[in-house]
Amino acid sequence: MIDKGHSSVVLEVELRSGEHAALKILRTDSKREDLLTECEIVRKAYPISPKLIECGRSYVLMELIRGVPVIKILHKHEERLPLILKVLSAGRGLDVLEIDHRELSRAHKHVVLTYDDKVKIFDYESAAISEYPRNLCRLTSWIFNSVLEIKLRREAVELLRKYKKADRELRREIFSELVSHTVSTLERHR
Ligand SMILES: Nc1ncnc2c1ncn2[C@@H]1O[C@H](COP(=O)(O)OP(=O)(O)OP(=O)(O)O)[C@@H](O)[C@H]1O
Ligand SMILES: [Mg+2]
Repeated sequence: MIDKGHSSVVLEVELRSGEHAALKILRTDSKREDLLTECEIVRKAYPISPKLIECGRSYVLMELIRGVPVIKILHKHEERLPLILKVLSAGRGLDVLEIDHRELSRAHKHVVLTYDDKVKIFDYESAAISEYPRNLCRLTSWIFNSVLEIKLRREAVELLRKYKKADRELRREIFSELVSHTVSTLERHR
C-alpha cells in the first residue's frame, strides 16, 4: 500500500505488461459515491497529474509517480528557487487547463518532485472545472507562508488579488510579474 487516505486507499500494482502503476480505490466507508469526477479531472490535468490509465466507478488506475514531496526539499537553499518556479508553473498549468484543485492551501502531500525532475500534483478528489481557478494563488501562499515562512510582500499580495479576477490574457502577464517578484524575493532571502 502506498497510502490510506480519508476516502480511498492507494496501492502500487503490477500490470500484465509488467509495468507498475498506482491504483486508487474508494473505501467502502467513504462518504463519496464514486471516483468518476476525479477520473475525468485526472485525465484532463495530465501532465501535471499522473497519466490516467483507466478508471471505473470506484477506482482510478494511473501512472505510478516516484519522487519526493517538494516540502522535503524546499528548505534546501541552493535548490529552492528553480523548484519553487516549477511548483508555481505547475499551479499555473492547472489554471490554464481550468482545473481548480481546491486543496493546495495545504499542499504538503499533494506536490511531488519526480526522480526525473518534474513536478506532479496528486489528488483531484475535491477538484472542479472552473473559469477562475486559484491553484497559483494557493500554491504561492502555501510556499511562502507555511513552508518558507517568508511573509509575502505587498506587491505579491496585490498581484495575486488581481490574478484571481483577471481574464486569460491578463493572467498570463500577472504570472510573469509574479515570477520576477518571486525571483527577487528569494534572492533577498538567500
Ligand atoms: N499516481 C500515484 N503515484 C504514486 N503515489 C501516489 C499516486 N497517487 C497517489 N499517491 C500517493 O498516495 C497518497 C494518497 O493519494 P490521494 O491524496 O489521492 O488519496 P486520498 O484518499 O484522497 O488521500 P487524503 O484523504 O489524504 O486526501 C498521495 O499523497 C501519494 O503519496
Ligand atoms: Mg484526498
